[in-house]
Amino acid sequence: MEKHILALQLSHILGEDFPRDWVHGLIETPKQGDHGDLAFPCFQLAKTFRKSPAEIAKEIAPKLQHQVFQQVRPVGGYINIFLNQSFIADHTLQQLLADPGQFGSLQFGKGETIVLDMSAPNIAKPFSMGHLRSTVIGNALANLSEKCGYETVKINYIGDYGTQFGKLLAAYQKWGDEKSVRENPIQELTKIYVKFHEASKEDPSLIDEGRSWFKKLEEQDDEAVKLWRWFKDASLEEFEKIYRLLGIDFDLIRGEAYYNDKMSDTINLLKDEQLLVDSEGAQVVRLDEVGLPPCLIRKSDGTTIYATRDLTAAIDRFNNYQFNEALYVVGHEQTLHFQQIQQVLQKMNFSWAPNLKHIPFGMMLKDGKKMSTRQGKTVLLEQVLKEAITRAEKNIEEKNPTLANAGEIAEQVGVGAVIFHDLKHDRRNDVEFSLEDMLTFEGNTAPYIQYTHARAASLLEKGSFRLKDAVTTFDDELAWPIIKLVRNYPVVVENAYKDYDPSKIAKYLLDASRAFNQYYAKTKILESDQQQARLTVIFALTVVLKDGLNILGIQAPLQM
Ligand code: ARG
Repeated sequence: MEKHILALQLSHILGEDFPRDWVHGLIETPKQGDHGDLAFPCFQLAKTFRKSPAEIAKEIAPKLQHQVFQQVRPVGGYINIFLNQSFIADHTLQQLLADPGQFGSLQFGKGETIVLDMSAPNIAKPFSMGHLRSTVIGNALANLSEKCGYETVKINYIGDYGTQFGKLLAAYQKWGDEKSVRENPIQELTKIYVKFHEASKEDPSLIDEGRSWFKKLEEQDDEAVKLWRWFKDASLEEFEKIYRLLGIDFDLIRGEAYYNDKMSDTINLLKDEQLLVDSEGAQVVRLDEVGLPPCLIRKSDGTTIYATRDLTAAIDRFNNYQFNEALYVVGHEQTLHFQQIQQVLQKMNFSWAPNLKHIPFGMMLKDGKKMSTRQGKTVLLEQVLKEAITRAEKNIEEKNPTLANAGEIAEQVGVGAVIFHDLKHDRRNDVEFSLEDMLTFEGNTAPYIQYTHARAASLLEKGSFRLKDAVTTFDDELAWPIIKLVRNYPVVVENAYKDYDPSKIAKYLLDASRAFNQYYAKTKILESDQQQARLTVIFALTVVLKDGLNILGIQAPLQM
């Protein structure tokens, strides 16, 4: 890439004290076209060379020579570089045309495996916005990793175990109605669980009942296990509807309960390493030396907990996949938990412990407040998706009433809107939930990008563009911003992967869509003397738009 060439030459000219990476970090990409495509500020050199930045710029500029540089201009303390547009266009387009489906694909992950812990909703509870975030962020990160050459394993670590299920079983004994649970499992089970929670404030004996049902479950009592399994299957069926709508699947659906009979191995290992200590009847691993509170392994009543299962799951995953990295896409409120897990594994001397990475994200807010299941403030995800699809249908009816398979496309648009609304933000920030904001065709939304892609695709169709007729020689100043974006796509993919940040792809797609719309407003494409060359540029743009959308888990319909 041009930036590398420039950095290499500059560091060569400047000498050993100015290594290539340092120079590379200083190179800017000016927003204004008349400042060139790349710019190098000389201000930090002034001291060493005992000259003014402007003098330095003037001295270096003539020494920069390469076929990708069209013009090198010293302006004040800057060196502005204008790239050789036709050379770069030709090179970029040739590269893309050679294998459009592979454009932007990278190889640095080849031979390595990444496991992703993602989605992980809790059974007998509604699928929350937090779980949606984990699902779509996890899916995008998996796609990004694959684009970089990694093998990926997407694991849905269902929350299907813990003392709360004792309460749920007890509640079902009291108020459960088989027929209503069959009809509406999650809603009904949530209802009796909340009722149990309320009632136990008045009547503490309920707590004991919950405990004894959990004990039964732990002891594999027939009745307890049968009910638990039923609740689990019914919940998974409901979750499956959401995954189908989102178009997301997993390589492995494996819940916490799977680790029940494997935790004793973990506990024995901890004992062997003399890491377990008593603390008021409970057993913990102390982590004072790294400044963390102790990690609770076994409660005083002998039951194991969340952390014990996560330790066991991590060890099991390493044994099965020998992962190079294990990503946990989980809200930032669990940061401490994952720090503890990693530290305990470290103390157990697992060499791979540093390769566990918590990928935290912020909350979904409604009117500035956390959406919570308890206070009934939750928005049901399935409803949100359906509402988004209905709105997309209406939109299509108004704008394109004769569209064939409008239903299918409305689904791609509605669902895409919901996914993009999440992924366009830096994942660490909180996101304000808004259907309006998701679904407008203008502004920073998926429908805007999908619409741009469809428009570009229809131009190719109208111009009967064929790959074999592509023209890569180019003298169309107005198309330069598009060429630059296309050329930069592999870099954006790499950066998005390295920062585990799908929003970099989302922002890129918005930039690329804007660039297309500006070009389209100013340029006659069909029936111009440069029709083939212009269509070739537009084809290249549709390739990156579609690929980028797909990385985010969003479809790119040809018409809408
Ligand atoms: N089910 C958990 C929750 O809803 C998330 C699990 C995240 N993954 C993990 N390995 N702990 O809070």
